[in-house]
Amino acid sequence: MSQRSIRKEEHLALTQMFFNAQKTNSFDQVHLLRPALPESQVNLNAVKTTWFGKELAAPFFINAMTGGSEKSRQINRQLGEIANKQQIALALGSASILTKEEDQLESFYVAREANPDGLLFANVNPLTPAKAAAKIVKDLQADALQIHLNVAQEIPMPEGDRDFVWLDRMLEIKEAAGVPVIVKEVGSGLDPVSLQKLQAAGFSWFDIGGAGGTNFSQIENSRNPHPMAYLNDCGLPTALAALLAAPLTKQLIVSGGVRNPLDVFKGLALGGKFVGVANHFLHTLLNEGLDGLDEEIGRWKEELTYLFALYGQGCLPVKQPYYLDLELKNQFDQLKQY
Ligand code: FNR
Repeated sequence: MSQRSIRKEEHLALTQMFFNAQKTNSFDQVHLLRPALPESQVNLNAVKTTWFGKELAAPFFINAMTGGSEKSRQINRQLGEIANKQQIALALGSASILTKEEDQLESFYVAREANPDGLLFANVNPLTPAKAAAKIVKDLQADALQIHLNVAQEIPMPEGDRDFVWLDRMLEIKEAAGVPVIVKEVGSGLDPVSLQKLQAAGFSWFDIGGAGGTNFSQIENSRNPHPMAYLNDCGLPTALAALLAAPLTKQLIVSGGVRNPLDVFKGLALGGKFVGVANHFLHTLLNEGLDGLDEEIGRWKEELTYLFALYGQGCLPVKQPYYLDLELKNQFDQLKQY
């Protein structure tokens, strides 16, 4: 197995080792004002939506995780099957490995095979040559391309990138991609200064990928013989990143630490058009199998319709009053000038 494939498998194992279903995070600091008289009915159609021209059964999706190794091939096939059955969007893990190891294409493509008509995103790092990124989109028949920002992962990674002059390279990818591009963080949070810089340069879809769930600084530190453990808390929490991003863009994806349908609903209330879920779904798949994850996603869709009724929401977009714990409100007040 190549060094890159080994790293992919280590990420799968370490994200499970650090997974903690009980963990509190910034979603707990957001509270929703519940109408005692909601004048609502549970409506299974309430959570249906469309994205990039394709119909979806829910506004939450499986966010980017894997590809580029044998284990990832098995996982991507299963994620493809489930996305197809449940009619939700699926993002594949970074395919930048294909610029060096073309024979790994199948470990991604299995998801497209299993989900021929569904909404599928490819994913690359910002230094992927534009032509290669365009080929990845074409080869995977991807409907959109995520470019991931992961400096807080690369720095504590012994073999990580050390060049973070990315914007021009990202613009080249955007020019060449031929599909919509989403800029995403990977769990350390997209700050409003970077968001505005990206927006001024022409990017329009943002996944804030906030802190509170999978923590790649922690994961890389656990692989590093000289860990920089003091970086494990450098991330911007998801709810804070969402509060800061919402006034800047409507094309917003909230993700990072989503644990249940209430977090999805809060993500929508905070201004997310869509909500991304990565490790919770992977953990369910690895522990409860294909049927377990299939049932879980079915349940999330159903419970989300219950939450819509509970909070008096007839349909998307969610317009839901919320209030914040003082700590979060204080952090937001300090940062909103940026
Ligand atoms: C990821 N994530 C990720 N993101 C990305 O843009 N490209 C990638 O290749 C990967 N790889 C990856 C592997 C594994 C095993 C996990 C669990 C996650 C990050 C992911 O998309 C998401 O941004 C973060 O995991 C935060 O969301 P959760 O896990 O807290 O829901």
